[in-house]
Amino acid sequence: MILESFHRRYGNERAVRVFRAPGRVNLIGEHTDYNLGFVLPIALDLACFVASADSSDGRLRIYSEEKKQSREWPAEEVARLKRSGDWSDYVVGVAQELIRAGYRLEPKSLLIRSTVPEGSGLSSSASLEVSSALALLTGRQIPPLELAKLCQRAEVDFVGLPCGIMDQYVSIFAREHAALKIDCRSLENQTVELPDGIEIMAVNSMVKHALGQSAYKERTEQCAEAVAAIRRLDSKVSSLRDVTVPLLEAASETMPKLIARRARHVVTENERVGLFVNACARADLDRMGQLLVESHLSLQHDYEVSCPELDFLVDTAVGIGGVLGARMTGGGFGGCTVNLLREGTGERFGNAIVSAYEGRFGVVPQVFECYPSRGAGEEKNFESIPSSAALRG
Ligand code: GLA
Repeated sequence: MILESFHRRYGNERAVRVFRAPGRVNLIGEHTDYNLGFVLPIALDLACFVASADSSDGRLRIYSEEKKQSREWPAEEVARLKRSGDWSDYVVGVAQELIRAGYRLEPKSLLIRSTVPEGSGLSSSASLEVSSALALLTGRQIPPLELAKLCQRAEVDFVGLPCGIMDQYVSIFAREHAALKIDCRSLENQTVELPDGIEIMAVNSMVKHALGQSAYKERTEQCAEAVAAIRRLDSKVSSLRDVTVPLLEAASETMPKLIARRARHVVTENERVGLFVNACARADLDRMGQLLVESHLSLQHDYEVSCPELDFLVDTAVGIGGVLGARMTGGGFGGCTVNLLREGTGERFGNAIVSAYEGRFGVVPQVFECYPSRGAGEEKNFESIPSSAALRG
């Protein structure tokens, strides 16, 4: 039980409360969020749990069960801490943003337990940020959109990854049994019911290429370069969100070919989100699957954020009976694929993909069934929190 672990580490501090924030899998709309476009993620039942109690000696203490590491500081020094380059940055970054937004940082002891595999593209960072923020606030109210923006700022400004808002947003706003279409410009969302007769599975390639961080930043710069070129033709354009395929074609000559390809991914991917949502409403499962594959090809060839392991997983998946479509999900360069299957075919799919991947790369991939779960909040049912022994598997 998380409470026992907490008491073992911190003694019998005052009342312990636990806050949960889920990871996510993005169904479609990849690398569109920082272009102010559309995304369609679901939250997972994989989540980060942070147990929290007031500490009586003025210090902030944090402990990660996964890393088996602890950090502590006098609470009043947290505002001045510098980035350390490890997991604690997510908590410190969020604490500093809370302080900047006017929330006093109370001395606390926190214990972090996460079931979201790190580096898997399932948003372990955002789930840590959001659950830590809730734990630091411990019941003090914060408007959910402010929370999402504040956690994103922590990642951009303190951790140093210029990410969009998708991961933090869905971790907070997600609904059970449905996907969330997020407009990353207006920051409004729409619940998208998924049709009956499907299963969603994520497959973790277990690789994390070092290129990921620098390439992510490079992509954001390339998108800005495309916008600058297109604006010379149409001054109303302020992000790739505003660009249509014909406008991009007209502007393509005015930018390097590579930049035009990057922009083509974003522009067509935004369209695919709308098409996918329509296909969901019609319960057109084949079309939904086809759009996932088109998204992958665009990420692979135009945006170039895939890798051989992800391409292998997608190519293999689409040849397995019952698979409607598959694509890489998240930032890329490793992490997971998301797979859309006909209901009842999950087990067969899992076995087939594991043996093919192991045969090719000598690594056993993790396979997760994905059930759209609710967004972040206080977890009162302590029994439902996985034990750390279960995490070690
Ligand atoms: C990462 C970022 C998100 C988003 C995706 C790509 O997960 O954190 O903001 O940009 O990559 O869609």
